[in-house]
Amino acid sequence: MITDPSQVAPAQDSWAGLTTTVRTCTACPELVASRTSVVAGVLPAGASAVDVLLVGEAPGAQEDLAGVPFVGRSGQLLDSLLAEAGLQRERVGIANVLKCRPPANRKPRRAEVSRCRPWLEQQLGLAAPRVVVALGVTAAEWFFGSGARIAALRQTVHDWSDRSLVVTYHPSAAIRFGPRGAPLAALREDLRMVARLAAAAPGTIGG
Ligand code: URA
Ligand code: SF4
Repeated sequence: MITDPSQVAPAQDSWAGLTTTVRTCTACPELVASRTSVVAGVLPAGASAVDVLLVGEAPGAQEDLAGVPFVGRSGQLLDSLLAEAGLQRERVGIANVLKCRPPANRKPRRAEVSRCRPWLEQQLGLAAPRVVVALGVTAAEWFFGSGARIAALRQTVHDWSDRSLVVTYHPSAAIRFGPRGAPLAALREDLRMVARLAAAAPGTIGG
């Protein structure tokens, strides 16, 4: 068991450098054995920082094959909701709590989340987003600890290391509950709030 985070995730000085290095991570043996790729996360082409960083749970089957986050069904819904809110996918960065797909899309284990934690911590520093969006319970727990509940945390702009943090449902919950379900309406509403926060001048957001 590795306990020193610098052994799992040596400090990187750029997002690109981190992307290269995380591909060599072998800290979770079960995930290493079944993964096709390590899905580091993406910034818009040419960008070294972003206004908004979305944080999901872990790659699914499509993402594992493509090596890119949110390209499957959840990603397609996310793309259309981002566009609807006026937040083009090209303008936001995307990362996940885990960089490797759990077999059969099971929930990330606590030990996996804590091993992978220093990678996302570094990404949050490197991408320097003004607004961070936690998509779903796994991401919400990453920020708030176990037992975090979306319904209780959404619709508030939280402060996290001097960044604005918004919590909302995962697109897969919106898909699961259907087009008339509450999670889709909430996700749509929350991404509009994110767009407003991202458009506000630096220093005027928060609260
Ligand atoms: N779900 C996630 O949480 N992340 C992805 O990248 C894809 C689906
Ligand atoms: Fe490393 Fe994270 Fe993949 Fe585990 S999930 S092997 S910590 S990159």
